[in-house]
Amino acid sequence: MAGGALVNSGSGKEYPGKLTLYVLVTCVVAATGGLIFGYDIGISGGVTSMDSFLEKFFPEVHRKQQANRSTNQYCQFDSQLLQTFTSSLYLAALVASFFASGVTRAFGRKWSMFGGGVTFLVGAALNGAAKDVAMLIIGRILLGIGVGFANQSVPVYLSEMAPARLRGMLNIGFQLMITIGILAANLINYGTNKIKGGWGWRVSLALAAVPAGIITVGSLFLPDTPNSLLERGFPDRAQRMLRRIRGTHDVGAEYADLVAASEESKLVENPWANILQRRYRPQIIMALLIPFFQQLTGINVIMFYAPVLFRTLGFGSNTSLMSAVITGLVNVFATLVSIFTVDRLGRRKLFLEGGAQMIVCQIVVGTLIAIKFGTSGEGHFPKGYAAIVVLFICAYVAGFAWSWGPLGWLVPSEIFPLEIRSAGQSINVSVNMLFTFVIAQAFLTMLCHMKFGLFYFFGGWVFIMSLFVFFFLPETKNVPIEEMVLVWRKHWFWGRFIADNDVNGVEKPKSGEK
Ligand code: BGC
Repeated sequence: MAGGALVNSGSGKEYPGKLTLYVLVTCVVAATGGLIFGYDIGISGGVTSMDSFLEKFFPEVHRKQQANRSTNQYCQFDSQLLQTFTSSLYLAALVASFFASGVTRAFGRKWSMFGGGVTFLVGAALNGAAKDVAMLIIGRILLGIGVGFANQSVPVYLSEMAPARLRGMLNIGFQLMITIGILAANLINYGTNKIKGGWGWRVSLALAAVPAGIITVGSLFLPDTPNSLLERGFPDRAQRMLRRIRGTHDVGAEYADLVAASEESKLVENPWANILQRRYRPQIIMALLIPFFQQLTGINVIMFYAPVLFRTLGFGSNTSLMSAVITGLVNVFATLVSIFTVDRLGRRKLFLEGGAQMIVCQIVVGTLIAIKFGTSGEGHFPKGYAAIVVLFICAYVAGFAWSWGPLGWLVPSEIFPLEIRSAGQSINVSVNMLFTFVIAQAFLTMLCHMKFGLFYFFGGWVFIMSLFVFFFLPETKNVPIEEMVLVWRKHWFWGRFIADNDVNGVEKPKSGEK
C-alpha cells in the first residue's frame, strides 16, 4: 500500500502550464458569485435591527422591543415572521441548487451563473421597493434561487478552470468573496442606518443589485470550461480552450485525462443510485456531516444576527452595527490566513486549532453574558465589559474563518471521485442550506429560551465535531483527487468500506485511454 508517501504525494500528476492572467480574471469574475451569497448573509441582520424597518414590516416586534427595554433582553426579537424574512432565502436556495445542477450540466456553467444573476437582480429590486412583508419574502426567495444557482455552478467552474495544484487556493477564493460580501453588507448597513427619513433599509436591500449586476454581466463574458465543452459535444473547442487557459500548447496529457474522465462519467447513468454503494460510504458521510457541522458551529448566529445580538446585549443601534463591521473585518482577514496555510499546515491542523479556539470563546462569551444577564435576562453591560465580549466574539469568528468556513466548502469538493462528484456537491450545498435555514429560523427563539446557554450549546457541538475530525477525517492536503481513495483505504475506520479492487481502479489506466 502506498502509505505515508501519499500524504505529501509527489506521485500526483503535474500538467504543464501556468496560472495565466486569463484564468485569474475569469476566476475572479466567477467568484463574485460568493460575493452575492455573502451580501445576502450580511444584509438581513443589520436591516432587521433598524427601527424604521421593524416599524414598517414587523410593528409588533418593534413595539415589544421598545416596551421591553428593562425586562427580558433575551426575548425581545423573538418573532417567527422576522426569522422567516432571514431564512426564506436558504430554503429557496436549497431547492434551486438541485435544478441548477441540471442547467449547469446541459447548458454550461456560465448560463447557471447568468440565470442566478438575473434572478438576484429581480429579487433586489423587489426588496428595495417592498411595500409589505409578502413583497419582502418573495424578493428573498428570488435572491435565494440566485444563491442556489450560483453556489452550484461557481465552485464547479472554479475547479474546472484552475490548474490542479492551485485548486485549493482558488476554492478558498470563493470563501474569501463570501466574507467580502458580508463585510460590504455590514458597512452599507452602518451607513444607511444613519439616513434620516427611515428609508435606509431600502438602500441596503436594493444594493444587492450591485454584486448581482457584476455576476450577470460578468458571466456573459466568461468562457465555457473545457470540461463543459467536452460534455456538450465540442471536443475541438474544448482543446482550444484548454490551451488558452493553460497558456501552452502542451496540453495533451491533461486533455486526455479530461476526455477519459468525461467518458467515465458518461458511463454512470444514475449518480444518485451510485453514490449509495458501500465504497462511497466515507464520502457520503462527509458530504452530510461537514456542512451540518459547519452550521452547528453557530457562526451564522453572528453573521445574521450580530447587530441584533449586540442590541440584545444593550449596545445602541449604531454601536451594534459598528460591532458587526468589526467582526466582518476579522472574518475577511482570518480567511486570508487559511489561504496561505491550508496547503502547508493541512486541513486537520486548521480544523482542530480553529475548533479549540471557538470552544474557548463560546464558553467565555456564554459565561460573561450569564454573569450580567443571568437567567432573567435583566441587566446591561458596562462599557469595558462589552468590549471584552466583542473581543471574544472576534476571536471566535477568526477561529471559524480559518477552519470550518473555508474547509466546509473545500474538503467536500476534493474528496469525491469524478463519477459522483456533482451528486456529492449538490448534497453538500443542500445540507449546508438546510442547516443555514434551520439556524436562521430558530436562533431568536433559541436565544429566548436557552439564554446564555445557547453559547454553551454551540460550544458543545464544536467539541463533538472536533472529536469527529480527530478520529474520522484523514488529511487530504496535497493528495491528487484521483488518488483520494487510497487515503480512505488506509484509514483505520473507513478502510473497511473499500475493497481491494476499488483501490486498484485508481492505478489502472483510465478507460478513455485504452
Ligand atoms: C458559510 C456561511 C457563513 C460564512 C461566514 C460560509 O462558509 O457557509 O454559512 O455565513 O461562511 O463567513
